[in-house]
Amino acid sequence: MQLFIDSANISEIKEVSNLGLIKGVTTNPTLISKTNSSIDETIRNISSIVDGPISIEVTKDTYNEMLEQALNFYKINPRNIVIKVPMTYDGLKLCRELSNQGIKTNITLCFSVSQALLAMESKATYVSLFIGRLLDDNQDAFEILNNIVKIKHIYNFQTEIISASIRNVKQVEKCAQYASDIVTIPYQVLKDMITNSLTDKGIIKFKEDALKIVK
Ligand code: E4P
Repeated sequence: MQLFIDSANISEIKEVSNLGLIKGVTTNPTLISKTNSSIDETIRNISSIVDGPISIEVTKDTYNEMLEQALNFYKINPRNIVIKVPMTYDGLKLCRELSNQGIKTNITLCFSVSQALLAMESKATYVSLFIGRLLDDNQDAFEILNNIVKIKHIYNFQTEIISASIRNVKQVEKCAQYASDIVTIPYQVLKDMITNSLTDKGIIKFKEDALKIVK
């Protein structure tokens, strides 16, 4: 399973990229709106830190406007830019067009097996299933994930499943149990994955006993 960071915050991305565990970055308009940067600046800033897939979402309404915006994003960093498109009729059309041009795509705002099936049939590079929002809506997010993973392997689809909208460590663990290809994780959840009170207690005890070691 690969770990991505779900953030547009440059200092967060820089900090976790030093761990060498993060293989990509996902952003969305909400995350970018929290920075003082434009989308283009965000692409340039993240590209200067991460040499891996960077998902940037189109914000325009019509197919032609989304296509033009996507191509402009792509030009900034053709090596790593992944164009995030919404799970809509025009989004599926755009996904096919970008795929035909060899541009990586991430179909986002996916909430069902049928939507994921269409994304995989559209040869999306990635499809983002929103785990946290499904759970917020009292839906069985992990059953949906489980079924998407099964269908992917039955038909050998190449689309990689990203589990997104992650709220806590337990959700990361369950996504791993259900064989999600990728989990994109908010900065604080990544930090929470590292810590455990028993680890802290163990470190204190070992340090105390280390002082007793004969020199
Ligand atoms: C990632 O690609 C998604 O846009 C993100 O995980 C959504 O998270 P949210 O449901 O907390 O907004």
